[in-house]
Amino acid sequence: MRKIESIIRPHLLEAVKTALQEVGVVGMTITEVKGFGRQKGHTETYRGTEYKVEFLPKIKIEVVLPEEMVDLAIDAILKTARTGKFGDGKIFVMPVEEVIRIRTGERGEAAL
Ligand SMILES: Nc1ncnc2c1ncn2[C@@H]1O[C@H](COP(=O)(O)OP(=O)(O)OP(=O)(O)O)[C@@H](O)[C@H]1O
Ligand SMILES: [Mg+2]
Repeated sequence: MRKIESIIRPHLLEAVKTALQEVGVVGMTITEVKGFGRQKGHTETYRGTEYKVEFLPKIKIEVVLPEEMVDLAIDAILKTARTGKFGDGKIFVMPVEEVIRIRTGERGEAAL
């Protein structure tokens, strides 16, 4: 199992959510976050002018899913979250050791 953590533009959440559901994702967690990337919250930088770092609002989507769904989910996010402009966000993928459904005690993929 893996966790896909994506940082996306807030107004694209609905589209990304729908695309993830279409590839079979059954559960997800979202958080309103703030962050910055290489442009430090600015779309332009001018030489000789000092800019302070601006945190911009983003949405973090966390999805834990079976290994074989990872590539499909990444494609779904890329298709819906990309505008081609600075600040489209990022996808982080990490291994997940265990999942436990609290109600039943089921473990592993059965608990997803
Ligand atoms: N290395 C990172 N670690 C953690 N969060 C990051 C990282 N890079 C970007 N983010 C998060 O993703 C959001 C969007 O980043 P952004 O898309 O601007 O990245 P970028 O590397 O500057 O790419 P681009 O050049 O396309 O803008 C940031 O506001 C921040 O929340
Ligand atoms: Mg950026």
